[in-house]
Amino acid sequence: MSTYTEDKRKVTTRRLIEMKQRGEKISMLTAYDFSMATIIDQAGMDIILVGDSASNVMVGNITTLPMTLDQMIYHGRSVMNAVKRSLVVVDMPFGTVSGDSLKSLEAAIRMMKETGADAIKIEGGEEISSDIKKIIDAGIPVMGHLGLMPQSINKYGTYNVRAKDKDEAEKLIKDALLLQEIGCFAIVLEKIPSELTKEVASQLNIPIIGIGAGPHADGQVLVMHDMLGINKDFSPKFLRRYADLYSVITEAVQGYIKDVKTMDFPNEDESY
Ligand code: KIV
Repeated sequence: MSTYTEDKRKVTTRRLIEMKQRGEKISMLTAYDFSMATIIDQAGMDIILVGDSASNVMVGNITTLPMTLDQMIYHGRSVMNAVKRSLVVVDMPFGTVSGDSLKSLEAAIRMMKETGADAIKIEGGEEISSDIKKIIDAGIPVMGHLGLMPQSINKYGTYNVRAKDKDEAEKLIKDALLLQEIGCFAIVLEKIPSELTKEVASQLNIPIIGIGAGPHADGQVLVMHDMLGINKDFSPKFLRRYADLYSVITEAVQGYIKDVKTMDFPNEDESY
């Protein structure tokens, strides 16, 4: 199988920063299970995110809020059983990092020990920066997440583009600088104006990974089910679909149903 990258070395946080320095864009995609993570890793992905979007695409919840630490650990372990090269980042679910530094550190240590992941991702800025610092000081690499933060959907009340006004844009830049200062190795910026991404990416030395944040980020992330066209009904402006797996799978399943009903399957060669 051909891979885009010829470099078979394990991706590390240090190598991501080197990629930013030489202008090589970083690829990142979500995965939640062993089989898909095997394919995505072998295809040459730089970062696999075990996102709490598992809540939506694996469980069928409307928001990411119901996801528990145990559930994220289950998905993280499943992905880690597959991955050889990609850097694996697991989302800390809603409520596990929320202002009590000791509790946050305990949850982060459980996540690292029980999944074997390379890093964790945490949504939020200044408000939870002392929790994030404590986690990083304990030796756990953290990817930040600013802009649209789906875990705060009940606070925003909408999934619209964030930081369009001056005050929110200024706060986002301040938060990004703070996350860099306390030691985050990268930051995801979700659904913000392209020009703001450009400004943050140029001010910071650590990689900025965008989703719905335009072309100026140092890398891009998408949810695997969206980019493979497994989800038919989710079509935001920022999404590019690279396959129509909904149709491919429907056709295969209907072919199987037909063959069973017509007794075409199994034939002699498929029997003992
Ligand atoms: O949970 C997730 O999949 C994410 C991405 C959308 C960045 O956080």
